[in-house]
Amino acid sequence: MSLKQTLRFPIRFPSRFPIKTLISDASVYVVASVAISLRLCLFTGEAQAEPTDHHHCRYEQLTSGHPDGILKRYCGRQIARIMGWQGAEWLERPERKSEEGLDQLIDLLQLKQGMKVGDIGAGTGRLSVLMLNRVKPEGQVWAVDVQPEMVSHLTSRSKLLGKNQLLVSQSSATAPNIPTATLDLAIMVDVYHELEYPKEFLHNLIKSVKPGGQVIFVEYRANDTSVPIKALHTMTVAQVRKEAQDAGLLFERSDSTLPWQHVVFFRTPRDAKKDTGSGPAPG
Ligand SMILES: C[S@@+](CC[C@H](N)C(=O)[O-])C[C@H]1O[C@@H](n2cnc3c(N)ncnc32)[C@H](O)[C@@H]1O
Repeated sequence: MSLKQTLRFPIRFPSRFPIKTLISDASVYVVASVAISLRLCLFTGEAQAEPTDHHHCRYEQLTSGHPDGILKRYCGRQIARIMGWQGAEWLERPERKSEEGLDQLIDLLQLKQGMKVGDIGAGTGRLSVLMLNRVKPEGQVWAVDVQPEMVSHLTSRSKLLGKNQLLVSQSSATAPNIPTATLDLAIMVDVYHELEYPKEFLHNLIKSVKPGGQVIFVEYRANDTSVPIKALHTMTVAQVRKEAQDAGLLFERSDSTLPWQHVVFFRTPRDAKKDTGSGPAPG
């Protein structure tokens, strides 16, 4: 088992489990029923989040870990180091279009004209522009990133596109800086695994999405030898679900037909309370 797998799936058996008290006919029946329902839940991919889906994800500080990660684990997963702005060229490489099936990804999102979309961790904005082409002229794309160098790149791109096409915003490590209930859809392409504060960031991102709106995670597939990406920059659908559902998102479906990535679709609860938002309007 690789170091990554060891870190992500620490299996602990609760020693306090009273095995002896289970050996009565009635108890065996109850235990069997619970086990069957649990298996059913695990294998029906379309289920919505239930209270039992909440795993109470928490942070753990590490004293040593994988060199590609920060010394912090969340929900059993070591958080990856951020991809620096120096990697901008890699995001813009021409072969990415076919390697990652960029057009297919945009089709999977089923964007409609007029939608307000948040490209969270937009990097150079390559995908922001592809999405904008599907939602304009009435729709908008918010392109946000935490690195000022990426924000400059996004601002230059936005200027070329013309006024009010691409709204650029500097996010913080814990919040996307998009006003409350603005977005119909928020997407993180190859971003979530490197959020330094995933719990806080998701909490704030959910506020920026309309109740019943979409939050979509696109992550390189973990444990797939055909995906040429460092292990800490990959995730399983199960891990994405665990963390997203812990944050209160409702699972809809996942799609793994892209060459390298999983696309995992969630919705925000419809009864989300109105809040003060995660920040001011963009500059
Ligand atoms: C691998 S790049 C992907 C860029 C873009 N989504 C794409 O696919 O072309 C990850 C990006 O996430 C950004 N990022 C990391 N943490 C962030 C945060 N807390 N808020 C916003 N962006 C973040 C990084 O700065 C980086 O630009």
